[in-house]
Amino acid sequence: MKVLICYFSATGNTGQIAKAIGGRLGQMGAQVDYKDVTPLEARQEPVGVEPYDAVIIGSPIHSMRSPRLYREWLGTLEGQGKRAAMFFTYGGFQVHPAPYDLRRRLEERGFKVVASATFPGAHTYNLAGWQAMGGRPDQQDLGLAAEYAKELYPRLNGQDPAMVGDLNSGPYTEEQLDEFESFRFKMAAMLPNRQGEECQMCLLCQEQCPSGAMDAEKGEADPSKCIVCLQCVKDCPDQALKVGDMTPFFQVKMEKDQETAESLRKKRGKLYL
Ligand SMILES: Cc1cc2nc3c(=O)[nH]c(=O)nc-3n(C[C@H](O)[C@H](O)[C@H](O)COP(=O)(O)O)c2cc1C
Ligand code: SF4
Ligand code: SF4
Repeated sequence: MKVLICYFSATGNTGQIAKAIGGRLGQMGAQVDYKDVTPLEARQEPVGVEPYDAVIIGSPIHSMRSPRLYREWLGTLEGQGKRAAMFFTYGGFQVHPAPYDLRRRLEERGFKVVASATFPGAHTYNLAGWQAMGGRPDQQDLGLAAEYAKELYPRLNGQDPAMVGDLNSGPYTEEQLDEFESFRFKMAAMLPNRQGEECQMCLLCQEQCPSGAMDAEKGEADPSKCIVCLQCVKDCPDQALKVGDMTPFFQVKMEKDQETAESLRKKRGKLYL
């Protein structure tokens, strides 16, 4: 069986799970190719799924859905009736309706969605003062990803004809979800910038930015393009890019969602088979 694993991963969590799933499938005899579509150039051309028996789509959760750029790119795929499985990484808070939303989009593109899974990952905004899911995915999360691959194998090759079960559509309308997403991009304090810090002008932040938003010379992100993925903040070799402190927002969110450091730490991934 030949499997393509596509993923978007600005800060690496989703990529780690992709490799754990692919590694196990490989051990079981599958030929696995990876397509990391985080870089802007990687999304310039649609990817053909013809050479593959099945496809696995990995995504971080951004404001309860897959990142906007990734959703747009996924809309260019032609499923041709192939089997597809999904997986997500998230920072400890709302998971839904991301799996429901992505399944709908993949089915619209002609895929048959056979399974889904969610895995906790260090919250991107730990780079802005949060403390959610530090150190994740850990060995246990990666072990669950390998178990997911084992369960997936017969579904991807059609031996097991089952499709993914019911997924939670969540309480929000599409318009509300669009609003939550765009609200975050409008928070100027969240946009990465350089305020006089030493910078070797390596251009990495500009060259790697998934949305083409970063101007390395100015040390500023274009608010109309930036998706606040914080890849530039994480990867800057001089740690010269900063974002506003989100700690107060995090504390309010913890109370609102009735979460504690302990309850977040205890969260584990889930398989939807
Ligand atoms: C813009 C943005 C929105 C996010 N929204 C959510 C969310 O709704 N729920 C959640 O639990 N985590 C959320 N996160 C955290 C990420 O889902 C999590 O850190 C993920 O593992 C990052 O994956 P990556 O390292 O592959 O980029 C968000 C992160 C970003 C950057
Ligand atoms: S990645 Fe950091 S060091 Fe490199 S150009 Fe950007 S801000 Fe400067
Ligand atoms: S400028 Fe925005 S979109 Fe680009 S890497 Fe930085 S946070 Fe991500």
